[in-house]
Amino acid sequence: MEAFQLKRGRIVRLLGLAARLLGRNGVDSPGREAEGLYCAALSLPRHAIYSDRAEAPGRSDLQRFRAFLRRRAKREPFAYITGTREFYKHRFRVRPGVLIPRPETEELVEIALSETSGSLQVLDLCAGSGAIGISYLLERPDCRLVLADLSRDALTIAEENCAELAPTLKERIQIVGGDLYGALDARQTFDLIFCNPPYIHPDEAGSLEPEVLHHEPAEALFHADPPGLYRRIVKGATNHLKEDGLLLVELSPRWDSTVLALARDCFARAELRRDRGGQPRILIARRPLQRSETQRT
Ligand SMILES: C[S@@+](CC[C@H](N)C(=O)[O-])C[C@H]1O[C@@H](n2cnc3c(N)ncnc32)[C@H](O)[C@@H]1O
Repeated sequence: MEAFQLKRGRIVRLLGLAARLLGRNGVDSPGREAEGLYCAALSLPRHAIYSDRAEAPGRSDLQRFRAFLRRRAKREPFAYITGTREFYKHRFRVRPGVLIPRPETEELVEIALSETSGSLQVLDLCAGSGAIGISYLLERPDCRLVLADLSRDALTIAEENCAELAPTLKERIQIVGGDLYGALDARQTFDLIFCNPPYIHPDEAGSLEPEVLHHEPAEALFHADPPGLYRRIVKGATNHLKEDGLLLVELSPRWDSTVLALARDCFARAELRRDRGGQPRILIARRPLQRSETQRT
């Protein structure tokens, strides 16, 4: 009992010091982050930190924890330090070179699952780690998935996530590199297209946290002309969607009316869905207009 209290007291002090270091360096929720890094360094579940059955940290555990703390104090993202990020129902591998998937993007998976059924051809355009497409495929293993991205680093990580999370679905996944639809065969068509493109204009860089601005890949965040990029995504979808196909695109509230107007030019049905914070976040567009319909409007 005494030994347990000694050990517990030491861990509490250690985590208190760690939280103060993180707090001084501007990290939000420093206590929680210190605990998270401690668990990652010792490969412990969070509930085991103060358990009387937990082993006292050894020298190499403490070295790893200190190294993690130093990186986090320099505002490196938590997910790059631990190498993983939970998204939807799975833990995805991430590292510098790929965007860390965001919770608001999970909504794309949820909308797609509620709006689609059957054995579909699916495209995740601007796939990054593959989080959106792989999460959907794991729920609908009869589908076929293409993951496309311009970044070689992102495609390597997407491939690792496929191998780790969907090893039995390997035959159903294709990974391709290139500029938007240029990565595909010109006649390749899909029932469902997801896209979360880089939509931050460089004039917004000053509002980003250091974790994002200094560590996540610029090509995954910024675009000099987001409306122009959305135009290519929405118009290109009309060539690559099957009849009654569904397009789901994540957007910044800054571009909501521009993107909606673009989609209404090309699709029979287009609407915006708000995220959990009440911001317009996702374009839902269904059935590309036939050429004759576009001429009439
Ligand atoms: C905002 S990240 C989205 C990553 C992932 N889908 C997610 O939601 O976590 C945008 C991705 O688009 C890729 N990208 C940027 N420009 C592109 C282009 N012109 N064609 C294809 N991919 C592009 C980046 O490499 C990056 O992986």
